[in-house]
Amino acid sequence: MKKAWWKEAVVYQIYPRSFMDSNGDGIGDLKGITQRLDYLKELGIDVIWLSPVYQSPNDDNGYDISDYQAIMKEFGTMEDFDRMLAEAHERGIRIVMDLVVNHTSDEHAWFVESRKNLDNPRRDYYIWRKGKGDGQPPNNWGSCFSGSAWQYDGTTDMYYLHLFSPKQPDLNWDNEAVREEVFSMMDWWCRKGIDGFRMDVISMISKTPDMPDGKVGEGAIYGDFGPYCIHGPNVHRYLKEMNEKVLSRYDLMTVGETSGVTVEEALKYAGEDERELNMVFQFEHVDLGNRNGKWNRNPVPLAEFKQVMTKWQVFLKGKAWNSLFLENHDQPRSVSRFGNDSPHYRERSAKMLATCLHMMQGTPYIYQGEELGMTNYPFTDISQFRDIENLNAYRELVTESHAWDAEELIACFRYKSRDNARTPMQWDDTENAGFTEGTPWLAVNPNYKEINAKEQMKNPDSVFHYYRKLIALRRQYPVIVYGDYELLLPDDAAVYAYVRRLEGQSLLVLCNFTENEQAVEVPAGFSRADAKVLISNYGRESAEGLGTTLRAYEAAAVLVTD
Ligand code: GLC
Ligand code: CA
Repeated sequence: MKKAWWKEAVVYQIYPRSFMDSNGDGIGDLKGITQRLDYLKELGIDVIWLSPVYQSPNDDNGYDISDYQAIMKEFGTMEDFDRMLAEAHERGIRIVMDLVVNHTSDEHAWFVESRKNLDNPRRDYYIWRKGKGDGQPPNNWGSCFSGSAWQYDGTTDMYYLHLFSPKQPDLNWDNEAVREEVFSMMDWWCRKGIDGFRMDVISMISKTPDMPDGKVGEGAIYGDFGPYCIHGPNVHRYLKEMNEKVLSRYDLMTVGETSGVTVEEALKYAGEDERELNMVFQFEHVDLGNRNGKWNRNPVPLAEFKQVMTKWQVFLKGKAWNSLFLENHDQPRSVSRFGNDSPHYRERSAKMLATCLHMMQGTPYIYQGEELGMTNYPFTDISQFRDIENLNAYRELVTESHAWDAEELIACFRYKSRDNARTPMQWDDTENAGFTEGTPWLAVNPNYKEINAKEQMKNPDSVFHYYRKLIALRRQYPVIVYGDYELLLPDDAAVYAYVRRLEGQSLLVLCNFTENEQAVEVPAGFSRADAKVLISNYGRESAEGLGTTLRAYEAAAVLVTD
């Protein structure tokens, strides 16, 4: 397998709005990030993925960009950015930017021009269509944030496409001028010295031109745009062009957000010889349980989780590279969803999940606060949410259509809302968890007195130090980075067990996903006297006894050398 720095790296995602506020306005900012670089250095990560910091009216917290070459005022200035980048580089930390180019803000200069008149030079930068008459949009597609995916614009009596909010009009990638603008903007950032791109919903940039109605699912109001917009007809052509014109000219790490991606499709985006991207984010494992849309409270059955993870581990082997994650700014907290966030089991299960993920093949991504075992927020009321996805869904499903019971929807939000990940980072036990001296834009989780970075940095048994150790192990043992993967006990509904192998070394990983003791049979060889326990969330020092029982949420990784 070809070696690469980004295969050996551990990435840490920062959601700047919620990371660290340096000036007391309640909003995280670039100076705040710079202040906390030493914390990240201590954790040991190699790369920061920075969620968007560009100028934005913040309809979707920076994922609606009005100027790609300016910094959002609340976050600081371009000088603050340059200083942050330089200080990160001084510490050996690279910075990967979020590239949001499926859409812009409706306040972007291109869109302001585009909507003015039919022969405006920017008209064709976006996707405009005539309605069907009678105030009917061009087709039945629904947007990801509720409502129609089309917005009527009276100036020219036409509709524009927005797969997300009406304030996020989709760019028309079929227009060569759009592609050239995007590529030259990317090149500008590369020349500044940034180290890569995480590409927002990049699988949606190419749409089928005829745009027929989509299938309306059970209980849905709108049609599904998926088959016409996801992995569309020219997506690979455009990414190859991007690679040739920009990516291949720099030493970058690239990862595409490709919801709905299959393993076969992933090989096109990220195959070793495809000249597109280094890796993709797939969502099969975090979407388990979404049988009828996102708003549910279904638990994730371990057997299915194992099956999905294993499929990706095995199928991409030697052909493409996995990205490993359980959390990001769009997901609830992993310990609340896949582990157990009760005070009794929170730390143990957070460490177990970390072991399970970080010992796999691929590049691990840690989302801010995950390294502390931060939990979901105890939401009880719609007024506590800030996320447009929740606010719109509540309006559509409760206020307008009465299709849902308000309490039931809030219960689903409590389990799945993106705001769970967006509550401020918990730095210490002072007011507002040390995140801000003002009023935070989204409330701090009330458990910050128990769960915070300061406390965990002092405590060698903390989740923080456990992550630190996992990161250090990856650096020390190539088998963790490059080893093959084999699933053991595929039908066990409580234990996730797998083996990694590389050049005479075998690494056994055992994880009990339940609070009950589990009997396991460890394969011969791993309980030998010279087997080395690399990490254990119960402080096990020898592999002896591992062969019989795993305690509640126990995890261990054991190495044997031929
Ligand atoms: C991606 C982002 C998400 C955003 C959406 C629209 O899924 O991760 O936060 O809302 O794209 O840009
Ligand atoms: Ca601030």
